[in-house]
Amino acid sequence: MVDALRASATIITAISNGCDRIVPTGEANEAAAIKKISEGNVLLCGEMAAKKVSGFDLGNSPLEYTQDIVEERIIIFSTTNGTVAIKTLAPAEDVLIGTFINAEAVAKKAISLERDVVMVGAGTKGKFSTDDMMAIGCIIDRMLKIDDEIELDDMGRVALKLYHDANHDILGALEGSTHFEYLRQLKLYDDLEYCTREDMFDVVPVYQEGVIIKG
Ligand code: MLT
Repeated sequence: MVDALRASATIITAISNGCDRIVPTGEANEAAAIKKISEGNVLLCGEMAAKKVSGFDLGNSPLEYTQDIVEERIIIFSTTNGTVAIKTLAPAEDVLIGTFINAEAVAKKAISLERDVVMVGAGTKGKFSTDDMMAIGCIIDRMLKIDDEIELDDMGRVALKLYHDANHDILGALEGSTHFEYLRQLKLYDDLEYCTREDMFDVVPVYQEGVIIKG
């Protein structure tokens, strides 16, 4: 599952910084209800319209998820698209969370499964999102570096071309795309810069039995 701006990056950062697990939820009030019946070390986190939900501990900026804040904590996490997409994938055998910042790591893990891989972009409110497609292209690029005989379908080829055309200027290439411009309008420049870095983390979060943990 890929939600390049920004849920994948937030999840990868939180898991890398030692959070115990993440419980993805649908709407914010579902997250708040789960927090009410949870004990102890729990942080209530997420966004609505990309803004921190009132009363929540953290929003959906990966930069908030530092080690001193998230280490050993359980995160109940609600986002508009990313966590919703993850939950719909529950029946799948292995659900890996990826994006630009862990592209090589998630590519390695996907290849090691020795099965067909379906890449799912979270999109934005049910619509295609360029950032997700480009991040999928980045992961495919890393998979082909490991095994150049991988077969792609047409969508995979388009994603790869989109990524190659960016020529490592992901930030520049995403200018004008809908969610990128929305986050820019909210002045979330640091998040945009962070979420479009490549191969920063060697960590692959996996979703299993209702929670996201380090794979
Ligand atoms: C989402 O999951 O809907 C996105 O990550 C939204 C956002 O940028 O906060």
